Amino acid sequence: MELNLRPLEKSDFTTLYRWLNAPHLKPFYMRDGISLETVLNKFSPRAGGGGDVNCVIATEDDQPFGYMQWYFNRTFPDYGAATIRRMAGVSIDYFIGDVNFLGRQLGSKMLDALVLQTCPNLVAQDRVFHIAHDDDNLSAIRCSTRAGFVADEAYVEKGRQSMLYVRCES
Ligand SMILES: CC(C)(COP(=O)(O)OP(=O)(O)OC[C@H]1O[C@@H](n2cnc3c(N)ncnc32)[C@H](O)[C@@H]1OP(=O)(O)O)[C@@H](O)C(=O)NCCC(=O)NCCS
Repeated sequence: MELNLRPLEKSDFTTLYRWLNAPHLKPFYMRDGISLETVLNKFSPRAGGGGDVNCVIATEDDQPFGYMQWYFNRTFPDYGAATIRRMAGVSIDYFIGDVNFLGRQLGSKMLDALVLQTCPNLVAQDRVFHIAHDDDNLSAIRCSTRAGFVADEAYVEKGRQSMLYVRCES
């Protein structure tokens, strides 16, 4: 089984639309669902590696199963400075879209691969990776922890008790 990462492409949009409306994303990632039109508008500038948010599809033997996005904290000061209070480094959001791929710890594997692949392209002070989790998102906390992220600071986001997890690379 070979796990690979590649940039999001326009041909992924219908799959992404389906994934973003999957029931297992509702509790912590996409509470209200999303229309196909919004997916097209939001992700078109990001396809092929464009835009401020780097969108990545994870595949196993060329079969897409997961999505990750990463961005510099300083690019989104409302989040970086105001919410998590970290201007250096990058933040990551992620999910496994295809439910048939859940339960195999692939989340940790794709996260680890993203950190290792992204790191060489970052200057030293940006080699700090952040992931925020709601305290009730137990599978994601386990997943990020298994990928080497460590609980760093508690904070409140949209009224929810959350924790910032950090992985530092040299
Ligand atoms: C987070 C996510 C990627 C993990 O998927 P995965 O890699 O298939 O993870 P697994 O199902 O193997 O579970 C991870 C671990 O959590 C544990 N776990 C799952 N549900 C749990 C629960 N309710 N309580 C405690 N532990 C739980 C599993 O036992 C597993 O432990 P292990 O690593 O010791 O085997 C997936 O659940 C997901 O896409 N969630 C929705 C999106 C999301 O919340 N993203 C994170 C926010 S950025």
